[in-house]
Formats: sequence, structure tokens, C-alpha cells
Amino acid sequence: MKAMAVRQLQSDIDHGFPRHWLGGDAFRTQFFNALSMTFPLGEQFFIDSVRAALPAVREPALQAVVQAFVGQEASHRQMHVRYNRQLEVQGLHFFIEPFLRWQLWLSRHLSVMSNLAMTMAYEHFTAIFADGILRRPHWLADASPSMQLLWTWHAVEEAEHKAVAFDVYRANGGGYVRRLAWFLYVSIVFALDIGMQTTNNLYRDGQLFKLRSWRCGIGYLLGSGGLLRHAWRPWLSYFHWRFTPRWRDNRELIAAWLSAHRTDYRELRAALADYS
Ligand SMILES: [Fe+2]
Ligand SMILES: [Fe+2]
Repeated sequence: MKAMAVRQLQSDIDHGFPRHWLGGDAFRTQFFNALSMTFPLGEQFFIDSVRAALPAVREPALQAVVQAFVGQEASHRQMHVRYNRQLEVQGLHFFIEPFLRWQLWLSRHLSVMSNLAMTMAYEHFTAIFADGILRRPHWLADASPSMQLLWTWHAVEEAEHKAVAFDVYRANGGGYVRRLAWFLYVSIVFALDIGMQTTNNLYRDGQLFKLRSWRCGIGYLLGSGGLLRHAWRPWLSYFHWRFTPRWRDNRELIAAWLSAHRTDYRELRAALADYS
């Protein structure tokens, strides 16, 4: 399968979107919004980490894959910057930004391999989430159309490039203990970051103290077909010493989305042959 083109999404996001764009459900909307707020800083960190490890990569095919990864993450960043501008217009505030910047400052004192291990852990989380979006269409079925398009496009590309940081880590001789240690760190910090930002979004949205918000939230997080039921197995799989992101195959779902939405994006850089 050809994969990892850099695609520009045809999006009208600059015209704004409803305050509760995800089915009128404040919790789910603010949870997705919280994720979006962290992406411009987070995805720049992933780009920098993978690029820093590139000089030690000898294989030309993997170098090309890294370039495609950088292109995809850079276009996600740009789209989420536009998205986040609309959130500011709606009165939301990137509350955890200082905490996130502090984490990024700390990461500058770490080795290339530790930053890569951290990136790999975050990429595993985004791959789990992307797999959920693609495999469980009900997560976004009631989203407003432009937002559904944006989140599924991002999910498709996350699923496409989910093994890149892993491959670079392997190519640099990265080991199991470091991989797990940073995964545990990222699991805690990521849950804290998103939990705090979602709570703040709900507060500023005037929905924090409403029973309905939390009933919807518990349903989405803990209900059947919800986030945690979807995520716990792939989360655990990371502990296996032979783990690879390729264990979960998304190729058919990716191909189906790409052909169904051919008019919704423009390829800026051609797809690579056979990276999956
Ligand atoms: Fe991304
Ligand atoms: Fe990614």
C-alpha cells in the first residue's frame, strides 16, 4: 500500500464551528478541544525529537519516511493552530500551556534517545486514539461535518505514521527499559495534562458543575464502546517486550477513508511506496 503522503485538508475551519460541535455534548467536545490545544507544541516536539535522531539513521528508505512524518505532523500543527484560534474566540484558554512548556524545557536536558522514547510513547497514545476514531465511527458520528473531517483526517495520518518514531528508535539501538520508563512517565503526564485542560475548558464553558456534563463524560470514558474500554488492551500491549505498533492493522480503514474523501484533501507530497 502506498502511504504517508503529505495532504492539505480542504477545511473551512476559519469560519468557526459550534461551541458544542460534538453532538451537543459538552464533555466530549471539551475533551477533544483539550487534545487539540496541546497538539501545536506536542507535534513540534515529535518533529524535533525524530529529526534529532535522524543523523544516526543509515537506511535511505527510513530517512524518506521520517521526512514524510515531519511533513504530516507539520500540517497537523498548522490545522490545529487554526482550530485553536477559534477556541480562543469561543472564550477557552490554554490553561496548561506553562506546565507543558515546563515539560518541554525539561526534555531539552535529556538525551536524543529519551526524547525519542517519549515521542514514541505519545505516538502510541495518538495511534490508540486514531484507531478508535477509525474503528468506532460512533465517536464522531454526531460531530459537525467540518470537525468530523478534520479529526478523521488527523486520525488517518496518525495511523499511517504510527511506527515511524518506533522504527527510528530501533534503528538507533533503543532498548526495552528506556521505552517502558518513558511510556509510564508519558501515561501519567498526558492523563494529567488532558484531564486539567478538559476541566478548565468545561469551567470556562459554564458546564463544569452540570450533572449532564459528567454523565456524558463517564459514559464516553467508561461506557461500552467508550475510550477506556477501547484503550486498555493496546495500552497494555506496549509492555510486551516484542511490541510493535504494527500489531494493530489499520490499513483497510485508512485506504477506505482516503478513497471516500479524495476531494477533501490535496496531496502536497506524493505517497511513499509500501510503508506500513
Ligand atoms: Fe499529528
Ligand atoms: Fe503523530
